[in-house]
Amino acid sequence: MSMKQCTAVLSVFYILYLLRATIALQVQSSAQPTADRRLKVGVYYETLCPDSRTFIRNSLYDAMIINDWLKYTELQLVPYGKVTSWTDPTTNITTLYCQHGRSECELNALHACIVEHNNVNDQMKLIRCLLTGHATSLDECAKNLVIDVSAVKECKSTRSTPDILKKYGEMTDALDISFVPSVTFDDKFDRWRQRYFIYNFPVIFCREYNNKFNITLPQC
Ligand SMILES: *[C@@H]1O[C@H](CO)[C@@H](O)[C@H](O)[C@H]1NC(C)=O
Ligand SMILES: *[C@@H]1O[C@H](CO)[C@@H](O)[C@H](O)[C@H]1NC(C)=O
Repeated sequence: MSMKQCTAVLSVFYILYLLRATIALQVQSSAQPTADRRLKVGVYYETLCPDSRTFIRNSLYDAMIINDWLKYTELQLVPYGKVTSWTDPTTNITTLYCQHGRSECELNALHACIVEHNNVNDQMKLIRCLLTGHATSLDECAKNLVIDVSAVKECKSTRSTPDILKKYGEMTDALDISFVPSVTFDDKFDRWRQRYFIYNFPVIFCREYNNKFNITLPQC
């Protein structure tokens, strides 16, 4: 159950996925998806975990933005992961201990503020930008993407980190995750197949969508 699994492993599955995605682009699709039919997808991650970072900025971003599946998705990003918390009974002040240290808690909170104050399309773009370059260059990302982040900055500067992260901690604790990133479809958490989900995300997404709505999405 150790979270030391939080290391970057670019497996052969990922390479197969890239090949498959390339082939899929060349296949004609006759699907007639309806944009009001959305599959719920939850992504539980840590901002300094290499596996999480790779998954979001590559597989998830490609699926949601490049493949344009975001409009068929009710995406919930949950930046929290494996965190221990302690509340001092004499002061009621909560301290969080994130897997990769204090800076990860701060960065998780920044992502949480982004999730709270931006539409999901802008969330994906800002968060991918943060995970790709310098981890805290919010201003630079916002400028390049032309996204207003004043509410994000106010959220981050006026609220305590435990307060910002409380909701995401509760969502994460409810699943009792043992591995990050973890993905849920339609709020279902399949504990034993997370690696398979992560490394085959587009294929699994297509299958889950089809299982639910009997529709094959474009690019599937
Ligand atoms: C801590 O919180 C509990 C429950 O909300 C409350 O009963 C208690 O008075 C608080 N203690 C302090 C020191 O604020
Ligand atoms: C799924 O869609 C196909 C083709 O549109 C249709 O023939 C089939 O009956 C549908 N299945 C269900 C279970 O609705």
